[in-house]
Amino acid sequence: MLERFDTSRLASMLPARVRHHVEDAVDAYEVLSEIRDPRVLRALGPSGVRGLLLKRGKQSSTTQMPAHHSAHFDWTYPHDQPEMADLYRRAKEGQWNGDSLPWHISVDPLNPEVPIIPPDFVDFEELSRLGIQLQDKEKREVLASLGSWMLSQFLHGEQGALFAAAQVTEAVQFFDGKLYGSTQVMDEGRHVEVFSRYLDTKLNKLYAINDNLFVIIDSLMTDGRWDMKFLGMQIMVEGLALGAFGVIYKRTKEPLLKELLKNVIQDEARHVHYGVVALREHFQKHLSPREQREREDWAFEVALLMRNRFMAMEVYEEWFEGRMTRDQWKKFVSSSPGMADFRRVMFSRLVPNLREIGLLSKRMIPHYERVGLGEYFGGKSADKLTANELLSSLQ
Ligand SMILES: [Fe+2]
Ligand SMILES: [Fe+2]
Repeated sequence: MLERFDTSRLASMLPARVRHHVEDAVDAYEVLSEIRDPRVLRALGPSGVRGLLLKRGKQSSTTQMPAHHSAHFDWTYPHDQPEMADLYRRAKEGQWNGDSLPWHISVDPLNPEVPIIPPDFVDFEELSRLGIQLQDKEKREVLASLGSWMLSQFLHGEQGALFAAAQVTEAVQFFDGKLYGSTQVMDEGRHVEVFSRYLDTKLNKLYAINDNLFVIIDSLMTDGRWDMKFLGMQIMVEGLALGAFGVIYKRTKEPLLKELLKNVIQDEARHVHYGVVALREHFQKHLSPREQREREDWAFEVALLMRNRFMAMEVYEEWFEGRMTRDQWKKFVSSSPGMADFRRVMFSRLVPNLREIGLLSKRMIPHYERVGLGEYFGGKSADKLTANELLSSLQ
């Protein structure tokens, strides 16, 4: 078994180029070998190869992803889903203009008085225990890099959300859902606009897409089944986004970013709400037991992927490669206070939504308990939570 070898020691003996290939292969092996269900592996495997091994997200500045869904037309324009119609009405009223954010505020990511990410986000003492002593200025630079890395991933995720929302609007069979979906396309377009503008004009640093985020986006863009797109985008990725946006919103001292995130979070709350309403209806009425089990397993595996795999390896390569091993870095990131907060916010929102759409079956409950997610079973799902409640839970 590959995992029995000390791969980081082995890799450290190799020239840098070869070492990167070996480490990429080990990462891909680790991700794919953790997936036990063969149907889930079939669904995620090709995206895993494209993202982790072929590094499609980093090979070029553009990527083509073929779509396999059908556009669903209805020439009778039925008013078929009152809850979605209500979301559509609220979404129209909740539109905002990205230009109206306080862009005049000048942002210096190295200013210790107004950090993008505060110093207690990571445990610098742990770094010095690993033999890495950083000066104050270097600490601020590492934090600024982490901030740019996170916001770059937000931006890449928003591009995925924009295209997925467009696909889902075409594919969904609820007519009220299509009208609602058109507002989500606008929302996601605005999110791309504001994150891109913030990175471009305030931080001046854009990181490439993280390979694991690429895998998830590739998987749901290329899956032809509309409900898998919904599950992937509206529940899983939106849950991930709310976790990440929520933690930065809560911790940042930078007023422009705080305002930007506050607006974006209010939109995202509607998006998850829509996902819960659409999938609850569909999963209860239209799935065979086998299809139901596949979605239960898929959601669980993707939840683990989101928990275990967003380790800012791009920041490691920039700052710490050669100074500590990849495994030491992963341990350092996953035990950092900011990461613990991110996992808590993400799963406290995600798990109740999985329950609400029926994916927390008796068969799955022990799996969630085993990985420590049992404490979130009783939380409020997105359809019961207002945007204001969501924001005040992040104070
Ligand atoms: Fe978004
Ligand atoms: Fe969204």
